[in-house]
Amino acid sequence: AITNNEFTYDRVKNISDWILNRVDLRPKIAIVCGSGLGGLGERVQDARIFPYEEIPDFPRSTVVGHKGNLIIGKLNHIPVICMQGRFHSYEGYSNALCTLPMKVFKLMGVQTVLLTCAAGGLNQSFKVGDIMLIKDHVAPLLWTLQNPLIGHNDERFGPRFPACNKIYKKNLRDVFHGIAEKKQIELQEGVYSSFGGPCYETVTELRALLQMGVDAVGMSTANEALVASYCGMNVLAIALITNKAVIDYDSENFPFHEEVIETANRRASDLQELVIDFVSKIN
Ligand code: HPA
Repeated sequence: AITNNEFTYDRVKNISDWILNRVDLRPKIAIVCGSGLGGLGERVQDARIFPYEEIPDFPRSTVVGHKGNLIIGKLNHIPVICMQGRFHSYEGYSNALCTLPMKVFKLMGVQTVLLTCAAGGLNQSFKVGDIMLIKDHVAPLLWTLQNPLIGHNDERFGPRFPACNKIYKKNLRDVFHGIAEKKQIELQEGVYSSFGGPCYETVTELRALLQMGVDAVGMSTANEALVASYCGMNVLAIALITNKAVIDYDSENFPFHEEVIETANRRASDLQELVIDFVSKIN
């Protein structure tokens, strides 16, 4: 399905109820683990794990580095729901389907969504391994009929015409900056852009994005952030800079998935510590 018409309130409610009927915890925080960042899921205690294929109407994860589990449990004693692996356009899923979990979270009572992703660093002052808070996005797919909000609008999720100038909540970013400062972990903040993938970007595409003020580029997150915000949930999004975007026509460098996963693995523990402290702080 291209539009969200298929994912009616009742159908989303059915998924939400299916999950809630199987657990006692009522998490107010949801975390989406990006490429190579699924290790956070392993740190969830008293975990109840639902492989995506067991959940009614859920798509499946098909990407190497993405596991495909919905995990409900506790991080530092705080109830959380964690997606170990997410859904991407390049897997053949519409954005409406990619963002279905956000609507499920909404009906489960989640108030804050923490999105993580791997991204290529476009900002020339960024280093591989940097952690960047997303403050805004440029997402060309969302300018098209691939916008996940197209179709019948059910006001129980959100408004027909949602504003998009405050998707990534400043107060949450401020809290996260405070935590990073205390841990002496350097933190960047900037604009994220995503295309649908699975190919990486051309040099000219990247140069155009740089001119637009984009700092990092990926293949996810903006669609989820949009729908979570539309549903009235607070969004914090973190991009891990796993590689440098190549903006020199003659460069012999190129991005590749193994490097993305390798960098993510190397930076996973810092990112996990930040997320766990953040969850404790906002609870
Ligand atoms: N481009 C798009 N997506 C990505 C990249 C990139 O350079 N790195 C990790 N995900």
